[in-house]
Amino acid sequence: MTEQYRVGVIGAGNMGSAIINSISQNENYSIIASRRTEQALKEIKNQYEVEVTTDNNEVVSQSDVIILGVKPNNLDEVLKGTREFHNSQLWISIAAGKTIQSIEEVLGKDSRIIRCMPNIGMNYGTGVVAYSSNEACREYDIRTFEELFQGKATCFKTDEANMNLVTASASFMGNIGSMLDTFTKSLVKGGLSESEAKLLTRSILETNNYYISNGGGNIYEKVASKGGTTEAAEKHAITQGLHRIIEEMVLVSIKRCEELEK
Ligand SMILES: NC(=O)c1ccc[n+]([C@@H]2O[C@H](COP(=O)([O-])OP(=O)(O)OC[C@H]3O[C@@H](n4cnc5c(N)ncnc54)[C@H](OP(=O)(O)O)[C@@H]3O)[C@@H](O)[C@H]2O)c1
Repeated sequence: MTEQYRVGVIGAGNMGSAIINSISQNENYSIIASRRTEQALKEIKNQYEVEVTTDNNEVVSQSDVIILGVKPNNLDEVLKGTREFHNSQLWISIAAGKTIQSIEEVLGKDSRIIRCMPNIGMNYGTGVVAYSSNEACREYDIRTFEELFQGKATCFKTDEANMNLVTASASFMGNIGSMLDTFTKSLVKGGLSESEAKLLTRSILETNNYYISNGGGNIYEKVASKGGTTEAAEKHAITQGLHRIIEEMVLVSIKRCEELEK
């Protein structure tokens, strides 16, 4: 790609900013971002050296590609509110639960629409993004999409029916964070310093990451011995229903996606 493409991000919140962070490092693209809070926009402008505005129409009228980073319940009002400036832009939605069909109902079937589900790993270069596109999208749009997102994430195309599962995984990122925080705090409660506790928590994560990345499955078998401490903790977890709860968490996330679809 030789010419500079203009990318608009409407709703530069947590995920929108993570995407801006990724795209701002690619000189093929210039960015204009919006949200309603001016102070937050100033911070985004300073941090990523991008243009900012509170006016979504400005974003839409100037952009070749528009990333919709608002919450699912704000999506329709944003699309309808900018209708006057809809042209031949490529639309990318990251909204949980919002189907391509529901976006087509506002933008029309001829609009090129990609629905994707990133995770917050995009902030740190460890992201994964799954995506589906509508029939109007061309090969070129998919290439543009991948170029935009792959700076900080691995992209894969999937059937739209799988998107709620991927959303459950993006949510689980936060749930795991919460569990790890509880674990770290319980070590501190027991007497370790915060830095010692964090060092141990990080080792758990990095070792599991290494193990999975190198073809291993569940590291449990490498850690647990008969009658040992890991087995004792696992038995307690099973008795208390931890594994069942994890499966249920996935289902609860999916159910919430389905509610957001409506
Ligand atoms: N966080 C994640 O890990 C994650 C992962 C995957 C997908 N997502 C999806 O990403 C979307 C955003 O989630 P988030 O966690 O980033 O939420 P968030 O931090 O609340 O970001 C949403 C942003 O939209 C802005 N906004 C609201 N109404 C607007 C309007 N009319 N015009 C322009 N901007 C507007 C809000 O800023 P102002 O109040 O200043 O306007 C806010 O910063 C959701 O659809 C979610 O499903 C999030």
